Amino acid sequence: MEDFGYSLHKISVLVIGSGGREHALAWKLAQSPLVERVYVAPGNAGTALVAENVPIAEDDFAGLMAFAQEKGLGLTAVGPEVPLANGIVDRFQAAGLPIFGPTQAAAQLEASKAFAKTFMQEMGIPTAKATVFTDYEEAREYLAQNPGPVVIKASGLAAGKGVIVCDDTAEAEMALQEIMLDRAFGGAGDEVLIEERMVGPELSLLVLTDGATAVPLLPARDHKRIYDGDHGPNTGGMGAYAPPPDVTPELIDEIMATIVQPTICGMAERGTPYVGVLYVGLMLTAVGPKVIEFNCRFGDPETQVVLPMLDGDLAEIMLACIEGRLAPEMVRFYEGACATVVLAAPGYPGPYPKGLAITGLDDLPDDMLVFHAGTKMSEGQIVTNGGRVLAVSARGEDLETAVAWVYTAVPKIYFEGVHYRRDIGR
Ligand code: AMP
Ligand code: GLY
Repeated sequence: MEDFGYSLHKISVLVIGSGGREHALAWKLAQSPLVERVYVAPGNAGTALVAENVPIAEDDFAGLMAFAQEKGLGLTAVGPEVPLANGIVDRFQAAGLPIFGPTQAAAQLEASKAFAKTFMQEMGIPTAKATVFTDYEEAREYLAQNPGPVVIKASGLAAGKGVIVCDDTAEAEMALQEIMLDRAFGGAGDEVLIEERMVGPELSLLVLTDGATAVPLLPARDHKRIYDGDHGPNTGGMGAYAPPPDVTPELIDEIMATIVQPTICGMAERGTPYVGVLYVGLMLTAVGPKVIEFNCRFGDPETQVVLPMLDGDLAEIMLACIEGRLAPEMVRFYEGACATVVLAAPGYPGPYPKGLAITGLDDLPDDMLVFHAGTKMSEGQIVTNGGRVLAVSARGEDLETAVAWVYTAVPKIYFEGVHYRRDIGR
């Protein structure tokens, strides 16, 4: 054997979370030459195929830290926003444990829409005009004086449900009541934003950053409504594709210059540098791209299309972010496009049953990527365990090919009442 005079020090890594996003993160991290073992806490039936599941809940910070210490983990990556907003990164950092994600102060960009809006206004970052209210009567008064379509938002975390898009003042008043008086989202609605309603196509841009340098992943677009043609209630996301053909490199440059760079600079100037992945939700309006929202984590299902297109070492990229040495050349992309279709449980996004047996997963082509979102093993059988059950991703030389290919696989997967959109990327 040749002796190169050095040996690669391999690390073990932990992914926190249990959805399709976390399966995609674990899948990509497992491909890194730096990575010896991947653990997922708590994971699902799919993450168990690429990693080792450990039964620690995502809010059990003490348990997660003890595990990281015991295994000498070289990296922990946090999937969902709630642990980030609750300061998991601060806790790990204080114990000297390497963790990828923003601190509690930086995660405010997602955890408080009021904070994010004020920050954007101060930095001159293009976003919908908005006013923040803590008093119901004042908010009502404002609606009466400013008729027209608005968006009412609970400021705090509401599992993606705290945003109500209203066509007129009557709808807006109902939304306000629901959030402020009926407290539909609990304390998340103590502060409310009344926002100008923007129009235009949406775009998700996930940006990796070490607090100073920011590098975008491929742009993606998700489909939030449950039914074809963007009808019906909002969901966590029924499918996604990357890159959208209408998004030019010039547009990405504009978003980086007018939105991302000022955000990263502004957070650093405030003494709360943003490290991790910043999800920028955008609307491409007639007067240019504007921010709808920030998330402090990877998107779901956007991750299931952007990671398959990433030609780079995700573990090395995450470590570079943590260590302040992110370089643009670490983040390259494959040619072509990727599409993902979410298979949902009957009833979703309303109440849905669990425990339905899933069949057809073994007969798919090798290049089909099945990311599990809500599944578990039960008596040797993979069964449903959530509303969004699976995200099936496929790559192609262009979007049309990727979409056509993914839809050859989707109908082969079955569980009782399975439903999915037929127009993802079309
Ligand atoms: P959010 O949870 O903030 O991403 O909002 C959910 C969805 O509501 C977005 O994907 C948009 O479709 C819509 N939305 C949010 N804010 C606005 C706005 N100011 N104007 C128009 N649509 C919006
Ligand atoms: N796909 C939307 C989100 O992750 O927030």
